Amino acid sequence: MLNINKKTKLSDAMKEYPGLKDYLVTLRPEYKLLENVTVRNLLAPRMDMVKIAKRGGMSVEELLDLLEAGAEQIMAGEPEDTAQSEKFKEDIKSLMRRMNSGEDLEEIKVQFKELLKKVDPVLIAVAEAELTQEGYTIQDLMNACDVHLEFFAEGLAEAKVDVPEDHPLWRFSKDQEVILNWLQEARELVKEMAQFNSMEEAKEHVARLKELMIKIDVTDNHDVRQENTLFPILEKYGVEEPPHIMWEEHVRMKGTRKGIKKALENPPAGWDYKKLVEYLDGLMITLVETFIQHSMKEHQILYPTALDLLSKEDWDDIAEESTELGYFELPEEVKKSE
Ligand SMILES: [Fe+2]
Repeated sequence: MLNINKKTKLSDAMKEYPGLKDYLVTLRPEYKLLENVTVRNLLAPRMDMVKIAKRGGMSVEELLDLLEAGAEQIMAGEPEDTAQSEKFKEDIKSLMRRMNSGEDLEEIKVQFKELLKKVDPVLIAVAEAELTQEGYTIQDLMNACDVHLEFFAEGLAEAKVDVPEDHPLWRFSKDQEVILNWLQEARELVKEMAQFNSMEEAKEHVARLKELMIKIDVTDNHDVRQENTLFPILEKYGVEEPPHIMWEEHVRMKGTRKGIKKALENPPAGWDYKKLVEYLDGLMITLVETFIQHSMKEHQILYPTALDLLSKEDWDDIAEESTELGYFELPEEVKKSE
């Protein structure tokens, strides 16, 4: 008898039974997504057996019977190696420290990127948080942030779905490319602001940054289109969790953007210029990183799932409703596919 019932969360079950994931993958094509570590971390804590069964198009009783039948395989398998992730985390920290020690940066960057290929992005955040506790500031960790943001952006470019230009996903994907460009430009501006000593000296940068933040605000209709066309249709097909999480991330990113605009318009009393720039930089890194991770999840999970499930009529509906909801203007140079 396995210690799994209707309410067991997939994350808990996987912790107890190392062979569970591989067994599920053999059961239904819908479970193949679990092979992706990002997907697994995203979904496993939020899905119980009822939801897993629904996702695989069966009743929870059927699923539990199938699990019992495969108990031997489920109980076998190697336990997840926590010592290994601990080692990765220490390796990340040591590379981040070396970036501040005056060693050849290019060489460390290569090693850092090699390591990033093997680790879960969460580990990077944990490593950064631990270094902050040791007294490292955002300024100190900037090189490391640049390398991992660059690495994530490369990952996103590889993860993109490939669809023709008249398909609604083409526009969603193009939107994301443009938003990312603007966000990266905004990040660069904040970085450059560190060379000045006052808002007066940095006024050209500040003006361009404000302008960009307004442009990025207008891209909100990208989120609105997703939330009102793609997400509800996926929910109709029983895919509820991923759209829900994506929606939450939209809200979170909007909050970060608001924080950036507020600090620019109305810096808290008592803050000097340096403190303001450091604060803006922290928010900007969070925003770019969340956006890249978010887009990656949409490209790896949401869009492929939609391509599998949605009918021609569904896509026609999405196209029609999107036109009603409106688009933001794409810059001339990206209007066509490369
Ligand atoms: Fe989104």
